[in-house]
Amino acid sequence: MGVGLRVLVVGSGGREHALCWKIRQSPRCGALYAAPGNPGMAPLAEIVDIPAREVGRIADWADERRIDLVVVGPDDPLALGIVDELEARGVRVFGPTRAAAQIEWSKSWARRLCIEADVPVPDSGSFDDQSAAHRYVDSRPPGLVVKADGLAAGKGTTVCRTQMEAHAAIDRAMRGRAFGAAGAVIVIEEMLSGFEVSVSAICDGSTYRMLPYACDHKALCDGDRGPNTGGMGTHSPPAGLAPASEREIELRVVAPLVRAMARIGRPFRGFLYPGVFVTPSGVKVFEINARLGDPEAQVILPRLDGDLLELMGVATDGNLARVSPVLPLSDGAACCVVLASAGYPESAQSGIPISGDLTDRPSLLHFHAGTRAAGDGLATGGGRVLGVTGLGTDLAAARDRAYAGVAAVGFAGMQFRRDIGQR
Ligand code: GLY
Repeated sequence: MGVGLRVLVVGSGGREHALCWKIRQSPRCGALYAAPGNPGMAPLAEIVDIPAREVGRIADWADERRIDLVVVGPDDPLALGIVDELEARGVRVFGPTRAAAQIEWSKSWARRLCIEADVPVPDSGSFDDQSAAHRYVDSRPPGLVVKADGLAAGKGTTVCRTQMEAHAAIDRAMRGRAFGAAGAVIVIEEMLSGFEVSVSAICDGSTYRMLPYACDHKALCDGDRGPNTGGMGTHSPPAGLAPASEREIELRVVAPLVRAMARIGRPFRGFLYPGVFVTPSGVKVFEINARLGDPEAQVILPRLDGDLLELMGVATDGNLARVSPVLPLSDGAACCVVLASAGYPESAQSGIPISGDLTDRPSLLHFHAGTRAAGDGLATGGGRVLGVTGLGTDLAAARDRAYAGVAAVGFAGMQFRRDIGQR
């Protein structure tokens, strides 16, 4: 047996901690690095002090250190072309090129792709002109979602129950530039009814394999109230997702998207994550991401049996067709509760000491999202601070374990939802 692969994970959140945790379990993994990583990853990976957005520096470092595989977690470096930079230096990388990642960094582009590929989407329009956007709102029934076209750190979506809220959201994005250049173009969609599912697939450019389905809880407060966040908790599998809907998602959404990307010369290699509503009239795609979801990764990866590093290597080489069509999954369930700082999602309180028991157990995992080292201990270092994932034979058991884990941790101003996994 050889010395093992030298692997670099790019990113610093809960998703990247979950990726490191899973990659470390692979017998193929030799040295594991994380750039810039976080204190939770330090026992698993050597921390490399380069921010994820500094794609040229990361590519130089990976080239110099003869990294065998780079795995890119977040959307920003993908949109900045980190995969292209690494490939230009001959470094093997798992993730979509900048051109393929446009499926996430431009919502209007993704919407046109869906329409061309006959992937079902909500009624919607995209606008670079404010007056036209306001007129569109006036022409639609109430219940609209206003989205910044570009990447806005998970904050660019406003759910508007009334026309007045939709007009205000347009003004905020286009006139007030609340999301900077990302809001110069906006997409306005009908609000969908039904239930939301986070769909994930691993793709090799021409084919794909489905990963476990998950449910995200994006609103800040219990009962799906309050502002939208990057995600306050997840569970997997989603209760009540019928096998017929799973087939529809795969055949009407994932397969045509992968085919369409290959057809237009932007083969998608990496994790594809469409957000889907299962509505009374079938599934509809309301967003597409070019990466794993966060906190979705914190329930998907613990449910995936088998060697993720091997699977990503196979996908990088375009050989997924050789892998069994159905990936091995654990029979049980997972539930992740996010612990967020006071002020999140508008702001984040950093430097607040974190106390309690963060010891992982076979059925309780702690993924760091925004922590920093503080003396011998830990302090908050971002909006979402920790993801506490419980595993169990069913969702109720997983949820109980996650909330028991939450009860053992604390920091001043800690916010979390008490109803994760109850949808
Ligand atoms: N949890 C939502 C996202 O990762 O975009």
